[in-house]
Amino acid sequence: MGAKGFFISKSVGVVGIVLGAGAVATIIALSVVYSQEKTKTDGQVSPTDGAVTTTGPAVTTTTAPSNEPWDKYRLPKSLVPDNYRVTLWPRLTPDPITKLYIFTGNSTVIFKCVEETQLILIHSNKLNFTELENGQKASLTTVGNGAPAPAIKSSWLAVKTQYLVLQLAGVLVKDQQYMLSTTFTGELADDLGGFYRSEYVENNETKIVATTQMQPTDARKAFPCFDEPAMKAIFHITLIHDLGTIALSNGNETGTSNNVIDGKQVLVTVFEPTKKMSTYLLAFIVSDFDFIKTTLDGVLVRIFARKEAIAAKQGEYALNVTGPILKFFEKYYNSSYPLPKSDQIALPDFNAGAMENWGLITYRETALLYDSKYSSNSNKERIASIISHELAHMWFGNLVTLRWWNDLWLNEGFASYVEYLGADHAEPGWNVKDLIVLSDIHRVFAVDALASSHPLSSKEEDIQRPEQISELFDAISYSKGASVLRMLSDFLTEDLFKVGLSSYLKEFAYGNTVYTDLWDHLQRAVNNSGSPPLRNVHDIMNTWVLQMGFPLITINTTTGIVTQKHFLLDPDSIVTAVSPFNYEWIVPIKWMKTNIIQNPKWLQSKSENMTEMKLSEGGWVLANVNTVGYYRVNYDRGNWDRLLAVLSTNHQDLPRINRAQLIDDAFNLARAKEIPTILALETTKYLQKEREYIPWESALDNLDFFYLMFDRSEVLGPMQDYLRKQVTPLFGHFKTNTSDWTTIPAGHMDQYNQVNAISKACSTGLEECQTLVKDWFAAWMNDPGVNKIEPNLRSTVYCSAIAAGGAEEWNFAWGQFLNTTIATEAEKLRAALACTKEPWLLNRYLEYTLKSTFIRKQDATSTIVYIASNVVGQPLAWDFIRDRWSYIFTQYGGGSFSFSNLINGVTKRFSTKFELQQLEQFKKDNAEVGFGSGTLAVEQAIERTKANIKWISENKEPVLNWFVAESK
Ligand code: BES
Ligand code: ZN
Repeated sequence: MGAKGFFISKSVGVVGIVLGAGAVATIIALSVVYSQEKTKTDGQVSPTDGAVTTTGPAVTTTTAPSNEPWDKYRLPKSLVPDNYRVTLWPRLTPDPITKLYIFTGNSTVIFKCVEETQLILIHSNKLNFTELENGQKASLTTVGNGAPAPAIKSSWLAVKTQYLVLQLAGVLVKDQQYMLSTTFTGELADDLGGFYRSEYVENNETKIVATTQMQPTDARKAFPCFDEPAMKAIFHITLIHDLGTIALSNGNETGTSNNVIDGKQVLVTVFEPTKKMSTYLLAFIVSDFDFIKTTLDGVLVRIFARKEAIAAKQGEYALNVTGPILKFFEKYYNSSYPLPKSDQIALPDFNAGAMENWGLITYRETALLYDSKYSSNSNKERIASIISHELAHMWFGNLVTLRWWNDLWLNEGFASYVEYLGADHAEPGWNVKDLIVLSDIHRVFAVDALASSHPLSSKEEDIQRPEQISELFDAISYSKGASVLRMLSDFLTEDLFKVGLSSYLKEFAYGNTVYTDLWDHLQRAVNNSGSPPLRNVHDIMNTWVLQMGFPLITINTTTGIVTQKHFLLDPDSIVTAVSPFNYEWIVPIKWMKTNIIQNPKWLQSKSENMTEMKLSEGGWVLANVNTVGYYRVNYDRGNWDRLLAVLSTNHQDLPRINRAQLIDDAFNLARAKEIPTILALETTKYLQKEREYIPWESALDNLDFFYLMFDRSEVLGPMQDYLRKQVTPLFGHFKTNTSDWTTIPAGHMDQYNQVNAISKACSTGLEECQTLVKDWFAAWMNDPGVNKIEPNLRSTVYCSAIAAGGAEEWNFAWGQFLNTTIATEAEKLRAALACTKEPWLLNRYLEYTLKSTFIRKQDATSTIVYIASNVVGQPLAWDFIRDRWSYIFTQYGGGSFSFSNLINGVTKRFSTKFELQQLEQFKKDNAEVGFGSGTLAVEQAIERTKANIKWISENKEPVLNWFVAESK
């Protein structure tokens, strides 16, 4: 950082000194406060409400249901913030006595009173306020020349609803501005939320980073604030930090100055005021990181990471793709990047994949750092798409923000759709846009076909508590959101979609919206285009947004009759949720008839006669071209047979996405008992000739279900034989194609399919594959300093070798894992360590997952899931989490996606009555502790288990027979 022309006002220095003195006093108080807070329960008692009653002679005390404003999770509408001045000082060394890491801070917020009130509620969680001489936790003054502010009568913390509550002696006057000031201390814990601490070792020295994760409701853990997305304000941030460290926040730094506070030499960095923004997008970071930078049409673009990672050039790829992606979105949104800078930083400890803080995006290391010696093409693609996703939010989400969390699906669904467009622009040769079909549509079809699914849209009043908000970050919001927006953009045409989008962003810049505001702008674009479709955007989209699930479209090519019904994976499941549309959708149908694309159709009722779809003289019908529609398709048997015939003779006549879709539809229709399971299996026979990744991956994903159901039964042998037979030609193809595994396939998708070929060939027992892989791994073990295994192949090679090996291989890999400073390499090893077949190694590994010096907290749940994916590890992992649920829950409960993934992961193999019983018992036993963001996942697991039990009983015989016959 430069050191010239810095200016620091006297007041900043003084504030800092006060802060320092306060800190010492509060360090000790801090641990006391925590133990007190924990004992306070739901019925938070205020000094004034006197609602506690003692019932009878027993010691039980109950609290009358109280309806005070501080018992409600939503802020009252009386006060609106305008701007904040926040100074924070994180300590990167622990207090010598308490051993706690802390931060101190002070904050003033200027707000306007819009409704007369005697009460100030401002969010605050786990902060300890320094009390003033009058015993209050804050001070209040009038801004400008109104009457003096009323005195604060009492102040306390409402723990459950996370407020600092201030009761006033008089009223706040409508339209008057006030200023509220506080001084406080918090713990800089390693809990991955709010202002938290990340640790890593560099040059044998443990280093600490202070960083933040505010979304959705943890800004209140860093400083008192009106922590709702519609409470946009301007933030003036100052960070105090140690010499030799740098401080970052949303705005550009205006200067850093040396200062002495509490006799300690420190740096004070002041940031430019932010634009008007939501609290959940704030970020504060202190580290000794390095960075690389470029400027792009006046916008400063920087990538920050550990010094070692920057020195190894691991930030270059991110820097290279950021420019093109930013430019892409400026064009797509027809709106220039709203901020003067764009920082992106890779953090050693980070719970999600990445977070779109405005101007300072935070990432896990694996999501931002690329090293061609270690990273696979899949790692590289993840980096491009996650950067694209977060940059997309800089406009959609940050510049224009949904008013409340119930509309989160539009924010995350939108970014999850357009991330493909941005990544495709940066890497046009990869065809990444096709992958939305596997990663989002197929992924979410699996949960949205359950009776326990839920609609995209939630009611505002149904989403109140922080856990309810966290639960919204699920596959429905992300992947269904992305899928229906892609369908919408497709039937409107991308050009019209962009016009509507850009006028939406223009109208609501720096403001808040509800999802229908976007529909309004799209409708306007449609109307102005002069070619309105037959129904309006609201009508069409309501059927996709307001009811759960999706339709199964059945086309009878002998009659031309097309029908729809709610698709349920388990046909016996009972849907209790009522739908405003009776589970009917307005469905755009893109289709082709015998190689020729036809005019799209709309299905607007339960059943329609579409005479064009009637086949009189041969040929075939294929609907949902390129899977742009969010639905499945079934046909009459004759058409299925003709499609199977095309697959086996000229599979390239069908678009490759549709080859994947036919497989996925067939397998799922079979599970729903719409078609025989054997017909689904028949769609895999042509794979002998298939070389493309997407259809192969779709087949393997679907066959995975067969593995889950049958790999503990006698079906396994014949199934392995069949698949080995199917994959052998693909294995041979890549062997030739890569001159005996000495080169890398040219195409991105081919590189993926090479991995599939090796992993399936090895796991189904193709000897040539197993020897190849064993030799590669052995060569590495012989000479640990040189790992010649091609990065793309490392995950599968490590896994196969560890599965085939014993303790020696495992311990070698574990040693490598502990030693590496390359996050992407650690990730590959961490997954592969779960592949061993030795129960004792797996049990020991499970223990390691809860030791944060071994497995970082951010990785604990995913490691347990890896272990559960292994047929040997699954029962061990299930016992493990049942045994420690309350510990795991309290220690790792903050994880956003992680809890539903954990529940799904350990239960996905469940298919016996006994397992169902265990699962129901588990739900009962932990009703009190709860399942947090995994609550819905428990219901889904129960539903899935029931369906699996039935499926096995009905399908085991025929499936076994088919595999036996087809493996010959
Ligand atoms: N806003 C989210 C990050 C987030 C998720 C914060 C859950 C709080 C709770 C971010 O934009 C995001 O969606 N990140 C994804 C990556 C994306 C490519 C799907 C993630 O973290 O996995
Ligand atoms: Zn997102």
